[in-house]
Amino acid sequence: MTRNNTSADWWKQAVVYQVYPRSFYDVNGDGIGDIRGVTARMGYLKSLGIDAIWLSPFYPSPLADGGYDVADYRNVDPRLGTLEDFDAMAAAAHEAGMKVVVDIVPNHTSTEHEWFKAALAAGPGSPERDRYIFRPGRGEHGELPPNGWKSTFGGPAWERVADGEWYLHLFAVEQADLNWKNPDVHEDFKRTLRFWSDRGADGFRIDVAHALAKDLESRPLADWPDDPDEGEPGDDNPLWDRPEVHEIYREWRQVFNEYEPARFAVAEAWVVPEHQWMYASPEELGQVFNFQLSNAGWFADELRAAIEKGLAAAEQSGSTTTWVLSNHDMPRHPTRYGLPQVRSSVHHQLVTDWLLRDGTTYFEDRALGTRRARAALLMELGLPGSVYLYQGEELGLFEVADIPWGELEDPEAFMSSHGDAIKGRDGCRVPLPWAATDPSGDFGFSAPVDHERAHLPQPAWFAEHAVDAEEADAGSMLWFYRRALALRAETLTVTGDTSLEWCRGYGDQVIAYARPCAGGRTLTSVTNFGDAPVELPEGEILLASAELLGDRLPTDATAWVVR
Ligand code: NOJ
Ligand code: CA
Repeated sequence: MTRNNTSADWWKQAVVYQVYPRSFYDVNGDGIGDIRGVTARMGYLKSLGIDAIWLSPFYPSPLADGGYDVADYRNVDPRLGTLEDFDAMAAAAHEAGMKVVVDIVPNHTSTEHEWFKAALAAGPGSPERDRYIFRPGRGEHGELPPNGWKSTFGGPAWERVADGEWYLHLFAVEQADLNWKNPDVHEDFKRTLRFWSDRGADGFRIDVAHALAKDLESRPLADWPDDPDEGEPGDDNPLWDRPEVHEIYREWRQVFNEYEPARFAVAEAWVVPEHQWMYASPEELGQVFNFQLSNAGWFADELRAAIEKGLAAAEQSGSTTTWVLSNHDMPRHPTRYGLPQVRSSVHHQLVTDWLLRDGTTYFEDRALGTRRARAALLMELGLPGSVYLYQGEELGLFEVADIPWGELEDPEAFMSSHGDAIKGRDGCRVPLPWAATDPSGDFGFSAPVDHERAHLPQPAWFAEHAVDAEEADAGSMLWFYRRALALRAETLTVTGDTSLEWCRGYGDQVIAYARPCAGGRTLTSVTNFGDAPVELPEGEILLASAELLGDRLPTDATAWVVR
């Protein structure tokens, strides 16, 4: 049990490790990671020194969007296991002193959900249809969609059904948006929150938390601009970040507070920084992902601004902030940092598109990307707030950019019609390498000797990043993560003091801050983005992301100094 985990608000300073279940570890040999795979690797998870595991969706799903198309919210996909497997996994995690966070997908259900099937069967105007967003089309025979809204993955956001009505899907066509004005929807999600809380979930990650409340009434649908993203998010936007969405989370807070300790949730809400804090307020979810760190390129000013905004938002919300470098939706950060850097004002989507566009050639400097990833980790782990890690980042994995078209799974790859051939997000979702040499050809991903192929192809270079290879190498990324996480827990989290002071005076190519640490001492974290080495403050070097030049910090490196 990490000491942090014994308090009721453990999640405010937690290190949460995201498991993408289908790509973590496969116990039964069907080439798909499973819940028993997470249980089997509990020792590994514990050895990292994390506080909690967050599992991306493992519910029954046609997998049109990696499980974010849920067909049954209160069950386990038979390909991933059973409810009993979940119970055993949660028990093993708790036994090992780790919490469990599960994913809730409230904006849309799979079109295979029984509600959607009932809505289709019941026909226009029925109460069943009212749980979703069905509308008549335009044109003489309703043959045109209600308006020009586009799905996030590309293509129209409306799909016509056999009787002529259209339903809204902000994501894949297999993900029908729910109508949060319908009371059934409210009741059902409260039931789901209680269901998993009763089964041992300690918290929730809320998918597209900013999209639930929609305004389709205040003006004729056809009058909305085709791309509401172009407008300012907030009151004038019919889809994203509407003020009424917060009423839903205040209702959920009542459910969270039925439990002891109260459950918490972290919102995935891609909203302007000024609005982020509302989702995180103690009356609502508790936390919100702060994606500014992952959006920033390797520029001192951008990263500093991201940290400042995150800290300010946390203060405003009365909660703590979160830090994210990677997740299952973005190219892995050692790859991002090894590419020519673009300013984040153009948004990381640009990097994504550029990286994943088929046929693009780019030069990925892996040594540089790795060096910066190490520096970024130490800078991130020294900050107050919770850190969300994504499976495989502890192995220093890069994006797998060359998955053949025929083997891709991500709807972004198929629906993308951003006019370009975007290969989507599978490159960070490739099954983990556990063993460098495995004659069966999947780097130990599947436990049985005879097994199906891993569901996405693994590149040969995964061997260098396999868990067993990194275990055997004291200089590996894995050991760096373990060391840094242990030091964060022992020296920083343990104090309960979340204050941070910026150390100015190093110039604009350095990010340096000081935090109170164990033993009444001060920990200074210094990251050097400039070409010239910088002088470190006096004190004991607790950890450095790269070899120091005497007592100076070289470029693209972070050191923690205690005095
Ligand atoms: C955000 C999830 O992280 C992403 O993977 C998914 O495609 C969308 N929400 C839609 O559910
Ligand atoms: Ca399996």
